[in-house]
Amino acid sequence: MARMLNGECRTVSAERVAMRSSPVEPSSTSRLSTRTLAFVVLLPLVLIGCEETKEAAIGPADIAAGKAVVEAQCAGCHGSDGRGVAPGIPDLAAQEARYLVASLTAYKQGTRTHAALQDLTVEMKDADVRNVAGFFASLPPLEAAADQGMPSVLSPYEKGEAASDVCARCHGEDGNSTTVGIPTLAGQQPRYFVSAVRAYLDGRRSIEGKEMLRELSHVDLESLALYYASQSPARREAPAFGDPAAGEPLSARCGGCHGAYGVSHETSTPSLASQEPHYLIKAIKAYRDQTRQHSVMLDDNTDEEIENLVAFYTVQESAAAEGAVITVEELVAKCDRCHGEGVEQPTLTVPKIAGQNRAYLINAMRAYRDGKRGNSMMHSMSLPYSEAIIESVASLYSSQPAR
Ligand code: HEC
Ligand code: HEC
Ligand code: HEC
Ligand code: HEC
Repeated sequence: MARMLNGECRTVSAERVAMRSSPVEPSSTSRLSTRTLAFVVLLPLVLIGCEETKEAAIGPADIAAGKAVVEAQCAGCHGSDGRGVAPGIPDLAAQEARYLVASLTAYKQGTRTHAALQDLTVEMKDADVRNVAGFFASLPPLEAAADQGMPSVLSPYEKGEAASDVCARCHGEDGNSTTVGIPTLAGQQPRYFVSAVRAYLDGRRSIEGKEMLRELSHVDLESLALYYASQSPARREAPAFGDPAAGEPLSARCGGCHGAYGVSHETSTPSLASQEPHYLIKAIKAYRDQTRQHSVMLDDNTDEEIENLVAFYTVQESAAAEGAVITVEELVAKCDRCHGEGVEQPTLTVPKIAGQNRAYLINAMRAYRDGKRGNSMMHSMSLPYSEAIIESVASLYSSQPAR
């Protein structure tokens, strides 16, 4: 290893080193795992130290042999030109060879699951894997499909803003309600927002004009939640009832969940600060009188105590639950640090996703989010992904020219 890291990688490729630990095709599982281990341990180490071309780093590929395998076994789904023949089947043309090897190896070893691919790869020799990868990598990037056009790609924020028109009549332009009894939505926690609308829809809470909420798709709803969460809640004057100073000590029992001054830091617990006071009175009494059910809410305050509590929360300054990410370009800025054009990540094998099939990108992101596709700490951290975000990100990348 030391020799290789000192720059001899031009003559000894990582793949060949890995192969040497078991030159014969393995026939037993113990052999397989030794070789696998060598591959997994050696490959990243060697790649860090090498300035080789990517083809060399995975060993020389016989492109003609790769083409023959593809024609026989893969082209029916991935096309001879590397274009997936149906939504959900990824384009493989011009994909990074090292990434193709890594993903085929993952299917083969069952760390990434897909029935058809597992069957196909389990019998594949390492040379086949390398050749097939080399073939797909050698294909030119695909032209955008003629009928696809360039959809205008909206972020969840922009979708939410557009959908909020019908809500503004009651909840205010930016979700800051100025109407007695109507709650402010500006700055509200997004998961709470979604669960509140669900509660109206399934009858756990009642509201007039439920039809309007019923028309919202799941993505509209998440988009609205993100849009409102990003708005700044306005400050409020003290209401005509109650005493904020007397309410403060009573709020000690609430602060553990709703935040010290009613600014919640937990996405399914609502903020109470700067909320419309008549709405707050009604909500707290509804819990107490059990017309609104929730196991965690306290319900033993007197009317006077409730008024004091509400006066206290009304005058507290609130804050937006989300930082406003307005365009989808802003949304993917983090992703472009690895997936952007011309970015080199020396220690990672980053697949190309520009121009990729939209349905496939959606599946891949859902798989990371739901823990069904392992490996990527990065993705599980950066993808507390709502469907609304997944759709926007997939639309953006699929609309970019493949490279
Ligand atoms: C029955 C259709 C079908 C056939 C045949 C097929 N694939 Fe696939 N392939 C798929 C689908 C669907 C996926 C996406 C699976 C997933 O989400 O993990 C995929 C994913 C892949 C990936 C992962 C791409 C990525 O971006 O992560 C590679 C590499 C791949 N296939 C290579 C091959 C090769 C090589 C063959 C021939 C030996 C082949 N496939 C045959 C349908 C097929
Ligand atoms: C006709 C007036 C009106 C319109 C239009 C309206 N709402 Fe409301 N909304 C209300 C009222 C009144 C309440 C309080 C009901 C209650 O007491 O539970 C409410 C409550 C809510 C709540 C719960 C807030 C909380 O703190 O629990 C959410 C979320 C909400 N509305 C979302 C929306 C969305 C999204 C739209 C647009 C699609 C919308 N509303 C349109 C009147 C309206
Ligand atoms: C154990 C955690 C917890 C404690 C303690 C708690 N709450 Fe809550 N509260 C919640 C959760 C969770 C919800 C959302 C419930 C729902 O979806 O109906 C909620 C909802 C509310 C709402 C409805 C807000 C809206 O926008 O409709 C009000 C008002 C409220 N709480 C006031 C209080 C007050 C006042 C106290 C203290 C006396 C308190 N809560 C104590 C967790 C708590
Ligand atoms: C630190 C670098 C890095 C960042 C930042 C990053 N990715 Fe990735 N991405 C990778 C790597 C490495 C892989 C391959 C992992 C694997 O094999 O599963 C990958 C794989 C993917 C795939 C699967 C592609 C395929 O062909 O199957 C998608 C989709 C994806 N990333 C989307 C995103 C999105 C969206 C973001 C932003 C939220 C993001 N990535 C941020 C490094 C990164």
